[in-house]
Amino acid sequence: MADHWVENHKRDSWRKQAKASGYRARSAFKLKQIQQRWNVIREGDVVFDVGCHPGGWAQVAVEEAGETGFVLGVDLQACQPVEGATLIMGDITDSHIQSKLDELLDGRKLNSIISDISPHITGKWDVDQAVAMNLVSMVFDYSLPHLSDGGSFVTKLFQGVGVDELIKVVKPYFSVCKRFSPEASRNSSSEVYLVCKNFKSWKVKDTSVNDLWEEMMDSKLGGNELEQVDSTPSSFKVMRKK
Ligand SMILES: C[S@@+](CC[C@H](N)C(=O)[O-])C[C@H]1O[C@@H](n2cnc3c(N)ncnc32)[C@H](O)[C@@H]1O
Repeated sequence: MADHWVENHKRDSWRKQAKASGYRARSAFKLKQIQQRWNVIREGDVVFDVGCHPGGWAQVAVEEAGETGFVLGVDLQACQPVEGATLIMGDITDSHIQSKLDELLDGRKLNSIISDISPHITGKWDVDQAVAMNLVSMVFDYSLPHLSDGGSFVTKLFQGVGVDELIKVVKPYFSVCKRFSPEASRNSSSEVYLVCKNFKSWKVKDTSVNDLWEEMMDSKLGGNELEQVDSTPSSFKVMRKK
């Protein structure tokens, strides 16, 4: 109960600070603290803000990238305009939206991908966490081919099954790949950010991040083990997935 009270109090305090500073959401402070520690956005950068509603991170990204930068955002929900940013409504996993994003990028390479994406929460923790991890791997798949060498990638993770495997998949693509919990994170036990820096495009494999991650999860959870089916009276052995 006491912990709960402390968490609520902290959340309210960040919310008040956000309001006083003109940010739309207290989440703005999470990106500010990530930026302070890791310097993931530089002046003039092309930044992709994934899950940008209501626009707190977009506000911070515009401040950091400055007038010479370009900030593009996408969210399922419509966002009030943020001066200096181009924010569109849509699902990042939808190929039509991806084509629209490609069009808006107009050949520009990304310097920084900042993803605070969070699926609709059902309250069933293991289901929500699995959906969130799958979504994050899909964000990697759309956006990595657009990331320039040396670029950064920040994404929210929900602690639990599959996090270590996802990190194992993407770690070789960057010089730095670390978990970081900004002070402004609501619940430090579940929400953590993965900060990846200095992208090495030549290390990326042909297989998608989502496929590699799912393969690892299958072998960890035993989903791809084969068992022998006895019903075939021949020298051939029919195998099926357990
Ligand atoms: C925690 S909020 C982001 C807050 C934002 N960073 C800010 O500072 O204002 C997470 C967002 O992810 C969005 N989202 C979830 N699934 C998505 C998807 N498939 N495509 C695009 N956005 C998605 C949700 O609509 C939600 O607005």
